Amino acid sequence: MSLQQKTINIRTATPTDANAIANIHVAAWRAAYINIVPQHHLDNLNIDDRVKLWQRILSTPATASSILVAGDPNTKESRLLGFVSFGAVAATPSPGNKGNDEEGKEGQERTAELRAIYISPQHWTKGIGQALWKATQQQLLEEKFTSVAVKVFARNERAMRYYRAVGFEGEEMGVTEVGGESLDTVKMRKGFV
Ligand SMILES: CC(C)(COP(=O)(O)OP(=O)(O)OC[C@H]1O[C@@H](n2cnc3c(N)ncnc32)[C@H](O)[C@@H]1OP(=O)(O)O)[C@@H](O)C(=O)NCCC(=O)NCCS
Repeated sequence: MSLQQKTINIRTATPTDANAIANIHVAAWRAAYINIVPQHHLDNLNIDDRVKLWQRILSTPATASSILVAGDPNTKESRLLGFVSFGAVAATPSPGNKGNDEEGKEGQERTAELRAIYISPQHWTKGIGQALWKATQQQLLEEKFTSVAVKVFARNERAMRYYRAVGFEGEEMGVTEVGGESLDTVKMRKGFV
């Protein structure tokens, strides 16, 4: 099956998507992060905990509005194939920087962060990630963001290739702790000009 953007349903998530999102989230972590994230951490990921987490996130309109899901229209109830989550970077107010609170003022920089993008492993490389990105970018532009940043594990080569393909650049190195190990990360950015 080859899915093109026009055959993928992309819409804002609702609380009833919590179960499907949690399952995609865990399956994608286990497939993508094998030999990257400690195996015990992947083994211990718990679907029920994730469902509760996503139910909480999706019951809050302010956060739910920044989660888009991709569904397959050829299946019963448009079964979910992937999701993306994004939002404003929480900025620290300072004398010269009032953070992201003053939305959309002329000439003001507003940076968004891509918090998660996960496609069901059996549906990778069919264009679903690209379609979700197009919808995400459209919403970020409508919300007057001027740039977006994402943090990716340095060893997640598939994701880095994907981000470069949709226009992210730069490689600001960092470290994050997962499952008791320090993992190298790379921060990439895309400006909207
Ligand atoms: C990274 C990820 C979101 C990309 O989504 P995706 O749906 O696989 O991405 P796309 O299909 O749009 O593009 C990926 C590749 O498929 C190719 N492709 C797209 N449509 C295609 C089609 N119809 N037929 C064949 N190949 C296709 C693209 O050219 C691209 O090729 P490349 O990797 O050689 O550059 C997805 O692989 C994923 O969920 N990975 C695991 C989680 C993860 O790492 N998330 C990022 C966290 S920071």
